[in-house]
Amino acid sequence: MSIDTQLKQFKDAFNAELANVSNAETLEVVRVKYLGRKSAFQDILRNLKDMNDEERREAGQAANAVKEAMQAAIESKEAELERCRYDHLATDERVDISLPGFAWPKGHLHMTTRAIRDIQRIFERLGFTRVRYPEVEWEHYAFDVLRMGTNHPARDNWETYFIDAPVHEKFGRMILTPHTTNGDVREMERGELPIRTMNINKTYRRQSDVSHVPMFHQFEGLLVDRDVSVTHLKGLFEHFAKEFFGPDREIRLRPHHFRFTEPSFEIDVSCGLCAGEGCRMCKQGWLELGGAGMLHPDVLRAGGVDPDEYTALAFGWGVERTASMRSGINIADIRVMYKNDIRFLEQF
Ligand code: PHE
Repeated sequence: MSIDTQLKQFKDAFNAELANVSNAETLEVVRVKYLGRKSAFQDILRNLKDMNDEERREAGQAANAVKEAMQAAIESKEAELERCRYDHLATDERVDISLPGFAWPKGHLHMTTRAIRDIQRIFERLGFTRVRYPEVEWEHYAFDVLRMGTNHPARDNWETYFIDAPVHEKFGRMILTPHTTNGDVREMERGELPIRTMNINKTYRRQSDVSHVPMFHQFEGLLVDRDVSVTHLKGLFEHFAKEFFGPDREIRLRPHHFRFTEPSFEIDVSCGLCAGEGCRMCKQGWLELGGAGMLHPDVLRAGGVDPDEYTALAFGWGVERTASMRSGINIADIRVMYKNDIRFLEQF
């Protein structure tokens, strides 16, 4: 084998090993192996003595060049390792501090929570105070005082969950409240008039389909004062609709029936998808918001309020329904709101 070939093979082997060096200890091992006194390099040099002068001069120069190149490579590797030692990093993990930072993903509140906060704020500006009444309730407050005594057929509209607990002598069975109207008589019983409250709470009904979830939320406005009338009711909804849905949305009152209000209404808001034209989401341009009315005199009496002196308006709507009627939103199945699927939740 010619000396050139030997030198080349030797240098290639050196380069290959040097490339794998990642700390000072292995670098020293490589240095001793290739440049030390017992290195194979010395064996190559020993061949020089069998050469004639001219050959020896050429080969000597070639060997010297290889040696210098190896020394230079070791020095630059040493410098590189030193830089990495300051960064406490392996050679291939150096940090480029000029790169832009990594932005952590940011979450946001659930659309129901956001709607509750928005609703609360709109009514707070009108002087309503947020209150909360029990989710686990007696039949008495959810039905009896609302003119739906035991076995009254109107109760069927509130598909109620009953709790397996002893029946109370006066308050009846224990239930999960199916509407926030349970708080109205409780509020009047506190005995402070006038009243302007907003009861936002969880409500429960035995229903699960595209437009119902068994656990949902309602917000209940209650206004008890002298000379409260349907005009106030209408004014409140108009204000709320514009604030919550936007200035283009309209409301309308439709006659309805509830045992605890007289007169009773259902409130519709113009559809945000078709702007009142009529589409698959709505009924001829209108979406049903929820119920409302003037509290029946018997309900006022049950709360200790004199109906000859005071009148009251009340309304109770589903938060999820109301939130999903915001402009441009079209939720085909309301149950996805509580499936915890991040792909859905991130959109709102
Ligand atoms: N509680 C009624 C319901 O759940 C809504 C309502 C509230 C109606 C207050 C009139 C007055 O459907």
